Amino acid sequence: MPRAYSITTEAIAAERERVGGNLAEVDVSRVIRLDELTLRAMGTHDVHLRILAVSAEHNVDHAALADTVNITEARGGKIYPGNSALGEVLAVGTEVTRFRPGDIVITHCNGQPDKHGYPLRIWAYDQPDSVGWYAEEAMVGDWQIIPAPLKCGLNLWEIAALPLRAPTAYHLWRRGHDIFRVKIPKEKMSRLYVLGFGGGVSELFLMLARAEGHRAFFCSGSPARRAHLATLGIEPIDQQVFNRFAKPDDVQAFNKEVRRLTGGEAMHIICDMLRGPVFAAGLSALAREGVNVSAGWQLDTRNVYNSALLSVRQVTLDHTHYDTIDGCNAATDLYGTVFRPAVHQEIYAFGDLPRAMREMQQNLQTGIPIIRVAREMPQAVRALIPGSAG
Ligand SMILES: NC(=O)c1ccc[n+]([C@@H]2O[C@H](COP(=O)([O-])OP(=O)(O)OC[C@H]3O[C@@H](n4cnc5c(N)ncnc54)[C@H](OP(=O)(O)O)[C@@H]3O)[C@@H](O)[C@H]2O)c1
Repeated sequence: MPRAYSITTEAIAAERERVGGNLAEVDVSRVIRLDELTLRAMGTHDVHLRILAVSAEHNVDHAALADTVNITEARGGKIYPGNSALGEVLAVGTEVTRFRPGDIVITHCNGQPDKHGYPLRIWAYDQPDSVGWYAEEAMVGDWQIIPAPLKCGLNLWEIAALPLRAPTAYHLWRRGHDIFRVKIPKEKMSRLYVLGFGGGVSELFLMLARAEGHRAFFCSGSPARRAHLATLGIEPIDQQVFNRFAKPDDVQAFNKEVRRLTGGEAMHIICDMLRGPVFAAGLSALAREGVNVSAGWQLDTRNVYNSALLSVRQVTLDHTHYDTIDGCNAATDLYGTVFRPAVHQEIYAFGDLPRAMREMQQNLQTGIPIIRVAREMPQAVRALIPGSAG
């Protein structure tokens, strides 16, 4: 049986009891545990995968913390997490025509498209019966995978960093940009000021903005991640200078700095995946007619704002979740040309996945965290592994 990580309601309850219900003290590495998995029998449209590498994703922390909802309980007491993976096709069902054994593929996590293609549910999170990919093997439908762009110029870990975060950023950017253009067309203003706060999705969002010629600013507490984005022409703002917006004075000081950086104009489009104190800072930094887009709530799910004030400023707050399957495919075309992710310096071994999740929770990583699942890599990807023959 393939080994796979699981989260159970018992593990969540035991950890909550250990810390006396204080979520800030929860150690997610005690909740995500190595387990085994029985793969379903192969259907005619199924693809059997050997997982090569995965990226650590915050939704797994949200599941282990049970801070948004207790998704493990809602799913019957146990989930197999992991919704961003790179794998090798081992076998295909009789009706599969797009893939064959030996192909290298990436996943998307749109678990159930609505009639317009947007996800009603996310795979390995709230989609019922969805089994995730923090596992040695997986059985997926052929609609869930995309050919990995092995010739895009990125190394294997960089490709593995993108399957979940890149489509999210691709959709956020289109939404933020196009909503802004409803208000102010290109004819009136060509170059925009675009801001993102720390985190992998925001970084990719800013790469899209930069690639289209806009001035992009990355406000983050991580010197390593700021330095990486600076090499791509994305201007750094140190969030620690503003005490991560702990007090109104910090927000005011940030607002003043934004006005200085933009010649008094302020930001036209902002990506805020964090909320909490970051939300107020983002609102203060928006220009008139500005757009604030989000698909995350890492620090808080609730926002308070003055609707009258935002109406007068013609400001739009927009919420998205994840892209359509077409959007996921289109985002993959931008690997290497637009998306050049910062990857955390350590590539974790499969057995260290809980530590990777813990270090993500503690915000200790210098880029997107990657877990190497397969020790033996297929010939097709060996040359893409930095500094080794695989
Ligand atoms: N809807 C979707 O499709 C989707 C997809 C991906 C992620 N998400 C959600 O979006 C959120 C961010 O995910 P991500 O993948 O972009 O981020 P990430 O790569 O996991 O990085 C998280 C970032 O959070 C920042 N951070 C941590 N503690 C902070 C604090 N106290 N104050 C301000 N910033 C803090 C850090 O930025 P610095 O230290 O650099 O400032 C860190 O880089 C999560 O809630 C995740 O679940 C949603």
